[in-house]
Amino acid sequence: MTHHWTLTSWRDFPIKQVPTYPDAEALSAVEARLASFPPLVFAGETRALKAQLGEVAEGRAFLLQGGDCAESFAEHKADHIRDTFRVLLQMAIVLTFGANLPVVKVGRMAGQFAKPRSQDTETVDEVELPSYRGDIINGIAFDAAARQPDPQRQIAAYRQAASTLNLLRAFAKGGFADLNGVQRWNQGFVANSAEGARYEKIAARIDEALAFMAACGVNSQTAPQLATVDFYTSHEALLLGYEQALTRQDSTSAQTGDNWVDTSAHMLWIGDRTRQPDGAHVEFLSGVINPLGIKCGPSLTADELLALLDKLNPQNEAGRITLITRFGHNKVEAHLPALIRAIEAEGRKVVWSCDPMHGNTIKASNGYKTRPVDHILAEVQAFLAVHRAEGTHAGGIHFEMTGQNVTECIGGAQAISEADLSSRYHTHCDPRLNGSQALELAFLIAEGLKDDSATQHRKAG
Ligand code: PEP
Ligand code: CO
Repeated sequence: MTHHWTLTSWRDFPIKQVPTYPDAEALSAVEARLASFPPLVFAGETRALKAQLGEVAEGRAFLLQGGDCAESFAEHKADHIRDTFRVLLQMAIVLTFGANLPVVKVGRMAGQFAKPRSQDTETVDEVELPSYRGDIINGIAFDAAARQPDPQRQIAAYRQAASTLNLLRAFAKGGFADLNGVQRWNQGFVANSAEGARYEKIAARIDEALAFMAACGVNSQTAPQLATVDFYTSHEALLLGYEQALTRQDSTSAQTGDNWVDTSAHMLWIGDRTRQPDGAHVEFLSGVINPLGIKCGPSLTADELLALLDKLNPQNEAGRITLITRFGHNKVEAHLPALIRAIEAEGRKVVWSCDPMHGNTIKASNGYKTRPVDHILAEVQAFLAVHRAEGTHAGGIHFEMTGQNVTECIGGAQAISEADLSSRYHTHCDPRLNGSQALELAFLIAEGLKDDSATQHRKAG
């Protein structure tokens, strides 16, 4: 039986992870207001990102996607946005330099607010309250008033996303991202770390190359691509009423039918808990043209994955789908090869990206939720090794990080211990890599990709 997608058809499908709003009318009023607000991104931008991801799918580029687990209202500061952006640029430099591939840059930023939770409620000292679901839905404080879902938070989230995006656009196009600043991006605690010193060496070589090119007449004025970067936004499309309100028909496109764009971000992804092929989240996203991510956890079967692709990418368009695998460091070999073989056997075009965060969360003995950097690195290494063995392109990385000097993930070159966690543990949800741990990860991937391209060159030659 076929059905007709509409902006609201998802409302007739089974749905998971929905907050219980006490006042349905207030919620509808907020959704109507949001629907009258300006779009945050434009159709042409989402198409440009899709084209770049198409290059990743074909093995000619690499996807770097990262940022907060959950953005918060409290930490909405220019410095935080700048520091995360700067570390992403540094990682992109390391990857471009190491792997000789263009890097597509996507932030978990400017809209990454809504969180899926494994439990609907949380109990502390025998008091049971609704779980925190992200600042777009309720407050993190453990009291009944804060935990009540409040639709007005969606308006605040939209405004914050707009302001974050505004700053990101200025950083990306206004001079900050000029390659001539490559050495200046190394700042603060990151610059003083071992990874910072490693970065410095690459930056010095790039500077030398730029000086040579400038002497030949190639500079930021004559080659504007040196002066700016393309930077895109993404988040989990979880709160569908909000996503619906920001979904608009692309007036610049002459095509009919396939021109609905979710303007809340360039790229949206479907979480591991809401990816049911017959569920509301898949239904909603099947009707928008944005590039989509699908989180692939250990419970996803090859048949289910193919069913998802039938629904979300019936035309098999390269760049439409990024499969974000998140199995856990010791489960990659058990799950990834079967999915890759199913995709290859059917000739489906996808980007394979590795989220080494969500399968590696543990509770430290002192109660903090943390992730061992060793496990994160091990999952990435296993991901690269499986793709090498299968002859497929390890296309990208998806991770939770911040430019701040937080202590949320244990281990790494900085050797953060369980006892250090309490020192600077600021996340509103999952533990993030700090700036120097993120850079450490980039070096590891660059080395892995360099090995791959060396192998390919040997094969080709
Ligand atoms: C996330 O990316 O923050 C998340 C909740 O991931 P997953 O759906 O893979 O658990
Ligand atoms: Co997370």
